Amino acid sequence: MLVEESLAALALEADGYYVDATFGRGGHTARILEALGGEGRVLAIDQDAEAIAAGRARFAHEVRLTLVHAPFAELATLVPAHSGGRPCRGVLFDLGVSSPQLDDPARGFSFRADGPLDMRMDATRGEPISAWLAHAGFDEIREVIATLGEERFARRIAAAIVNTRGEHPITRTRELAEICSRAVRTREPGKHPATRTFQALRMFVNDELGQLERGLVAAADVLSVGGRLVVITFHSLEDRLVKRFMQNASRVDPELARLPIIPESAEPRFRLVGRKTRPSDAERARNPRSRSAMLRVVERVR
Ligand SMILES: C[S@@+](CC[C@H](N)C(=O)[O-])C[C@H]1O[C@@H](n2cnc3c(N)ncnc32)[C@H](O)[C@@H]1O
Repeated sequence: MLVEESLAALALEADGYYVDATFGRGGHTARILEALGGEGRVLAIDQDAEAIAAGRARFAHEVRLTLVHAPFAELATLVPAHSGGRPCRGVLFDLGVSSPQLDDPARGFSFRADGPLDMRMDATRGEPISAWLAHAGFDEIREVIATLGEERFARRIAAAIVNTRGEHPITRTRELAEICSRAVRTREPGKHPATRTFQALRMFVNDELGQLERGLVAAADVLSVGGRLVVITFHSLEDRLVKRFMQNASRVDPELARLPIIPESAEPRFRLVGRKTRPSDAERARNPRSRSAMLRVVERVR
C-alpha cells in the first residue's frame, strides 16, 4: 500500500541501513532491497511468526536482509543489536493487519468467514480475544468497543456479549459478527455492522496504540540525522496519534519557545516532510482496503 509514495518518502541511499518495522509479506522490503546496492541493509520486523517464516522462505538467499520476530515497540534494542553500529537512515511503519492475516479464517480477524475468535498478531503471547470476552466486565467491553471502534452501539453490543456468554462461551468469529448485526441499529453504507467491533477488539488484544506510541518514540531515537520516519496508518485513531507525535517532534517546546534565547535542547529534533498523502484514485480502485490509508513523514534534523 502506498508503496511508491513510501519509497520516495524514505529517500533511499544505496548503501543505507533501513528498518521495515512491519514486514508483513515483504512487499515494501522487496522494493527497498531492489533500490539498495550491495552494501545496503534492511532490518525487517514482524510480531507474526507466520510472516517471518514466509519471509525467511521468500528471501532465503538475501544476505542484505535480517528478519526478526518481535514487536516493533522493541526497536530501541533491536536496531543496535542488529545494525553493527551503522547509522539508521529510515524506519517504515505500514500499520494494521496484513492481507494473509485477514484472509485466513484460522487467525480469527475476519467477520466474513467463520473461525476461532483469536485476533492476536503474535499467537505466542497473551490470550485470544475470546478468553478476554469470557472474563472482562461489561463496562470494560463497552469502553473498548466505544473508544477503539468509535461505535455508537457499544453499550448494546457489550450487553449482548454479556448475555450470550451467560449461556455459552463465545468462541467463533461468526457468532460475534451475528451478535453485532443484531445489536447495531443503523447501517453505515458499505460497512458490515461488525466492522467497528472487530477493529476495536483487534486493536485492544494487540495493544496497537500502545505499541505504536512506543514504536514511534523508539524509531525517533534510533534514526540518524537526515534519517526519515515514514508511517502509513489505516484509521483515524492511529493517524491522530502519528500526527500529534510528528507535530510535537517538529516544533520547539511551547513552554521554552517564549524564552528570548531558545536552548539547543529545546530545538525540534525533526522537520515535517510534505503534507499527509493518501493513495491515488488508481490504487483505491485497485485495492479497496487502501481507502483509509494515510502516509506521514518526518526527517530527523538533530
Ligand atoms: C499492513 S501489514 C504490512 C504489509 C507489508 N508492508 C507488506 O508490504 O507486505 C502489517 C504487518 O505489521 C505487523 N505488525 C503490526 N503491529 C506490529 C507490532 N506492534 N510489532 C511488529 N509487527 C507488527 C503485522 O503482523 C502485519 O504483518
